[in-house]
Amino acid sequence: MPSEPRMPLPPGPSDPFDVNVDEATFRVLPEWMETYGPVVRTVSPHGADDCYVVFEPDFIQRILVSHHRNYVKGRGFERVKMLLGNGLIVSEGEHWRRQRRMLQPAFQRPSVARLSGVMRAVTGRCLRRWRAAAEAGQVLDMTRETSTFALEVILESIFGEDLKRFRDDAGSTPFHMLVDETVRDLQLAVRFRALRREVLQLADWRRRRGIERADFLGLYLAARDAQTGAPMSDEALVDEVMTLIVAGHETTGVTLNWIWHLLAHHPQAEARLHAEVDTLEGAAPPRFEDVPRLPFARRLMDEALRLYPPVWMFTRRALAEDRLGDWAVPPGTQIALPVYCVHRHPAHWEEPERFDPDRFLPERVRARHRYAYFPFSMGARRCTGEVFSHVEIAIHLGWIARHLRFEPLGPATVPLDPGVNLRPREGIRLRPLLRTRA
Ligand code: HEM
Repeated sequence: MPSEPRMPLPPGPSDPFDVNVDEATFRVLPEWMETYGPVVRTVSPHGADDCYVVFEPDFIQRILVSHHRNYVKGRGFERVKMLLGNGLIVSEGEHWRRQRRMLQPAFQRPSVARLSGVMRAVTGRCLRRWRAAAEAGQVLDMTRETSTFALEVILESIFGEDLKRFRDDAGSTPFHMLVDETVRDLQLAVRFRALRREVLQLADWRRRRGIERADFLGLYLAARDAQTGAPMSDEALVDEVMTLIVAGHETTGVTLNWIWHLLAHHPQAEARLHAEVDTLEGAAPPRFEDVPRLPFARRLMDEALRLYPPVWMFTRRALAEDRLGDWAVPPGTQIALPVYCVHRHPAHWEEPERFDPDRFLPERVRARHRYAYFPFSMGARRCTGEVFSHVEIAIHLGWIARHLRFEPLGPATVPLDPGVNLRPREGIRLRPLLRTRA
């Protein structure tokens, strides 16, 4: 019997190239998408396995959903592991499955509804700070401000009232190093990891005293394996808490930064948001139950995440041989999923560079390929914090936009830093102004 002909490998540049979450990759990807089509093969300069960059939503569906068992986390996750240990973002196999099952309830709606109290409190404090800045005619570094906001929300959601044990006289905590230092190098990893001991001490203190709380730490301490009834090991517990601190703040913080930047440059969208938030009553930030009453705020967030997905590219590695359409995927192939490029793919998005929150009206979403939009990933490893961040952003916008608006001080298009999450290279500066209602 003649053997089956081998399937071809996809096209790509002949010069070796290291596909990484960095400036060079970010620059060349849109060119490759145009030149080579839906899958681009790159040869590693270090003799490592080839890397495929995948732009086609059908193939993204195959990698993340229908054939996800064949794909484990790929290149770049070693770096994340240094910072976070073996928490949900990096773990694999049975350990990941067990942890995900145990921790899932902490991210579901009833838990987020309880934690929305924290989001409201931190939003209230944020408004007081920003209002004072408006009254004093000051300018805000919005990138830093929103990062601090999101860090405060996640820290209080994890440690609840015990966060005060970490605070210094100025109200800061050692975890605030994540706002001060945006470069995620080895030095930061060492300093961040040193905080593991303090987290464990707090967990121990609660355990010894039988303190049960409904914050993330409390939920994690109470979580039990469905089969064995065992709690998490100390090591696993701390890995998961550290993961939550990083995963739960940078992404949401930078998304808020982009939303305020976009609003400052699009007065029509700003006016629509104002009209929507002004329908809310009460002298306090919106409640969890109010969130469905803010559909335009939700579309704003969806559109900001399309244009500036914080996780702008992530990776997988093929375990066994697979295929993407007519192309072969040999075992060991690295896969890069460039969220940023797929979100601006002209075959799926009309005028992709244009800011238009109405792309996310239900009928327009239905008409689009489901996998042309995946800021939170898809499938089994989809982000656990999606509902949490939707609610956090809605509460923040719902309250701040009722009182303040922001004037841009720079251009609408800013240079990007694709180093870890997709951030502006320089902090975005906006002038807060008290809103005068019509
Ligand atoms: C706008 C905000 C956010 C975005 C865009 C985002 C994006 C993502 C993406 C793309 C992944 C998948 C990465 C991969 O599979 O390689 C992920 C995973 C994850 N995210 Fe988020 N995230 C956000 C907010 C949050 C928040 C607020 C939390 C926690 C409260 C969180 C916790 C996690 C965790 C634990 C995972 C790992 C899930 C697993 O593999 O089982 N994220 N996120």
